[in-house]
Amino acid sequence: MKVNGRHYRSLWWDEGEEVLKIIDQRWLPHEFRVQPVAALQDFVDAIVQMRVRGAPLIGATAAYGVACAMRADSSDQYLEAACVTLNATRPTAVNLRWALDRCRDVLRPIPPADRARAALTLAQEIADEDVEINRRIGVHGLEIIRGIAAGKRAGEPVRILTHCNAGWIATVDWGTATSPIYQAHDAGLAVHVWVDETRPRNQGALTAWELGSHGISHCYVADNAGGHLMQHGLVDMVIVGTDRTTRTGDVCNKIGTYLKALAARDNGVPFYVALPSPTIDWTVEDGLAEIPIEERAAEEVTHVQGRMTDGAIGSVQVTPEGTGAANPAFDVTPGRLVTGLITERGICPATAEGLAALFPERAAP
Ligand code: MRU
Repeated sequence: MKVNGRHYRSLWWDEGEEVLKIIDQRWLPHEFRVQPVAALQDFVDAIVQMRVRGAPLIGATAAYGVACAMRADSSDQYLEAACVTLNATRPTAVNLRWALDRCRDVLRPIPPADRARAALTLAQEIADEDVEINRRIGVHGLEIIRGIAAGKRAGEPVRILTHCNAGWIATVDWGTATSPIYQAHDAGLAVHVWVDETRPRNQGALTAWELGSHGISHCYVADNAGGHLMQHGLVDMVIVGTDRTTRTGDVCNKIGTYLKALAARDNGVPFYVALPSPTIDWTVEDGLAEIPIEERAAEEVTHVQGRMTDGAIGSVQVTPEGTGAANPAFDVTPGRLVTGLITERGICPATAEGLAALFPERAAP
């Protein structure tokens, strides 16, 4: 998508410098900084420190990490070590494991001398596929928005609530939850987005930055406002992303998603999840029992980062000295609370049968 009128992907291979370029998301929405990543440890740091974040993007980044590792040492041992190291960076988003399994499967049979080139080609394939998957999610999701718009007066916007940042910078391009929104806007439909701030890391500010850059009407709200907005008939639909969805349709996403799903159910608001197929964990049946939830640093809760009055980016403490904090980064929304899963192959119920009907080749035992 565009930043200051120029098209960007969230990562790209720089042929001249022979490095991966990423957007360092720690500085957004205040500063747009591009950074080179070359050594395996740089990739590990980029994912752990959330310079890159969002389930599809960390999968694609890890694939480039393997490609760069193979340039340093293309042995079987280093291939395995690189995959294990990268897989340990973040525990919840399954796209990481998916991308690394694919790298292993493709690269192992290839002679070490040819692996570096093959690994780069594969990483680029994974990135390009992500763009196309998200574009298609948008095509399907657009029809839902079109259906809601049809019941409104001309020019009255479809009001969509989203949580976290499931936008283009959380993927390689388009975003998952935002792809239908971008496509609706580009098709001339009026949309207005309620953007949850998404404490503790405020990824909603990234979504606001994206939507603003694309000229889409939006309003930033405290996480606790969603239920109130729904009770007052101000939300037509919810669309969120996901970090791991079980084969039975349970959706693990950014902490707070479950509360939005409960409020949506209580108020008859449709709750959709934009789901690229690499985010389905076909090995998991029960999301609550089986998905590992990342526990992040307490400091993300006790402190808030932002732009200071002098223009510098800084962090302020919001709690009394010595107060402890828990920071579970994700929660699980049971499939029964989800109206539909918007995948690249179409929309299905959040059930084992629904997913199996769209992806029969993956669901088969
Ligand atoms: O901790 P983050 O910022 O990596 O979490 C991101 C999310 O939870 C997104 O909603 C999810 O990855 C879907 S992104 C297309």
